[in-house]
Order: sequence, then C-alpha cells, then structure tokens
Amino acid sequence: MPLQAAALLLAALCVCRVQEGVAFPNGSVAFSCGSMMPVHPPYTPSSSSPPVTLSTSSASYRPGGVITVTVEVMENSSTHFQGFLLQARSRKGLALLWPVGKFTNISTTLFTALHCNNMENSTVSQASRVKKKKVQLTWEAPSNSNYGDIYFSATLVQDYTTFWVQLNSSTLRLDSNSAAGVFSSSALLFINLLSLSAYC
Ligand SMILES: *[C@@H]1O[C@H](CO)[C@@H](O)[C@H](O)[C@H]1NC(C)=O
Ligand SMILES: *[C@@H]1O[C@H](CO)[C@@H](O)[C@H](O)[C@H]1NC(C)=O
Ligand SMILES: *[C@@H]1O[C@H](CO)[C@@H](O)[C@H](O)[C@H]1NC(C)=O
Ligand SMILES: *[C@@H]1O[C@H](CO)[C@@H](O)[C@H](O)[C@H]1NC(C)=O
Ligand SMILES: *[C@@H]1O[C@H](CO)[C@@H](O)[C@H](O)[C@H]1NC(C)=O
Repeated sequence: MPLQAAALLLAALCVCRVQEGVAFPNGSVAFSCGSMMPVHPPYTPSSSSPPVTLSTSSASYRPGGVITVTVEVMENSSTHFQGFLLQARSRKGLALLWPVGKFTNISTTLFTALHCNNMENSTVSQASRVKKKKVQLTWEAPSNSNYGDIYFSATLVQDYTTFWVQLNSSTLRLDSNSAAGVFSSSALLFINLLSLSAYC
C-alpha cells in the first residue's frame, strides 16, 4: 500500500517535470505550469509592488458556476504587460500545486489556452507580445465541491527583465449550499418524524 502511494507520487512528479519543460510558442515567453515562472534567465521576479489588480466578479463560487476574472494595470501606472499566465488554484491539499476548473469562451486571437497538468484550458496565456493594459476571462468552476475555497493566481510579464510571479486574488469561498441540499435535510427530518410517530 505505501509502495503504491509512493509510485503514484513518483508518477505525479514525473508529469510535473515534463510540464515544467514545456515552452509555449505563441507567447513571447515560456512558462512553467507549476511555479508559473517565466523562463527568463538570468532574471528573477521583480520585488517591487505589482502595478496590477486581479479581481473577480464574485467573492464566492458554486460548483459548475461561472466567474469573470480581470487582470488590469492600475490607473496610476504607465506599465503595459506583454505576457501573462492565469489559473485558478485550490487552497486544499495537492490541488495547491495544480490549476482547477477551466476557462471558457477563450478568444484564440487574444489568448493561448494551455493544457497545464493535462487539464484542457485550465490555464491561459497571451497569444502575442501586443502590449496590454487589461485582460478579462471567463472561468467555469469544477462541477463538484472537492476543491473547497479557491483563488486566482497570475504571472505578469512587462518585458524580458521585469515580471511578477503568482499574484493572488482574494479567496473565493465555495458556496455549496443548494436548494437540493436544503430539501434533502428537511426530507430526512420529515422521515425521522414519521418513524418517531410510528413508535408512539
Ligand atoms: C501560433 O502558433 C501556431 C502553431 O503553433 C502558428 O501556426 C501561428 O502562426 C502562431 N501565431 C503567432 C502569432 O505566432
Ligand atoms: C497607485 O495606486 C495604488 C492604490 O490605488 C497605490 O497602492 C500605489 O502606491 C499607487 N502607485 C503609484 C506609483 O502612485
Ligand atoms: C464570448 O466572448 C465574446 C467576446 O470575446 C462575447 O461577445 C460573447 O458574448 C461571449 N460569449 C459568452 C457565451 O460569454
Ligand atoms: C478550449 O478552448 C478552445 C479555444 O477557445 C476551444 O476550442 C475548446 O473547445 C476548449 N476545450 C474545452 C474542453 O473547453
Ligand atoms: C500566492 O499564493 C501562493 C500559494 O499560497 C504563494 O506561494 C505565493 O507566494 C503567493 N504570491 C504572493 C505574491 O504572495
């Protein structure tokens, strides 16, 4: 059993290593899916405060629900960005390392849809070096509740020497309350009351 677990972990790590090497041709930069780090030797991420905001259309999400995500340069900044990488991540367990959900309605003239960790459209980057002030994308949550609270993470590339890695949005709370859930618990209560009355 521990051996199987170890083999599984090893297999997962191998997948990660392969993904790390992937270069994305149409972007001006190659990114790592896991660390979201652009491959720009010898430069390291900027330590200055990032001139962008990463916002979402809602502070919570429902399984299968849709969220609009916006990455925008602050009004008081003259910066543009040429490259970016955007994905959603869970705050739980292993999913910390991997994107969750997928982007939908991805314009292929503006964006490149990526299969990070074999999840189609789980990550989006730029389609060209065109200088950008703002990008907006639609994200669809996984249809189950397994991932708990999530957040969006973005890497922004101003140019080869200047980039910011893993800028995080606020946390989006999982809202798994549904009419069905409420119904089933009251139905259960009703059944319990019935069985109680059967004993009386
Ligand atoms: C994007 O990549 C595809 C194939 O990888 C290529 O046909 C296309 O010309 C590229 N576009 C740009 C803008 O580089
Ligand atoms: C731009 O505005 C943000 C918040 O509105 C502030 O935190 C930042 O320091 C400002 N930057 C400059 C260069 O004024
Ligand atoms: C898809 O995106 C285009 C603009 O890129 C927009 O006009 C259209 O309404 C979007 N469709 C959906 C279903 O969100
Ligand atoms: C991924 O995005 C591309 C480009 O918009 C689209 O053609 C494709 O159907 C999408 N795949 C899935 C599984 O959503
Ligand atoms: C974003 O969150 C990840 C995961 O918690 C963390 O490793 C990273 O340092 C955060 N980014 C910033 C800029 O704080």
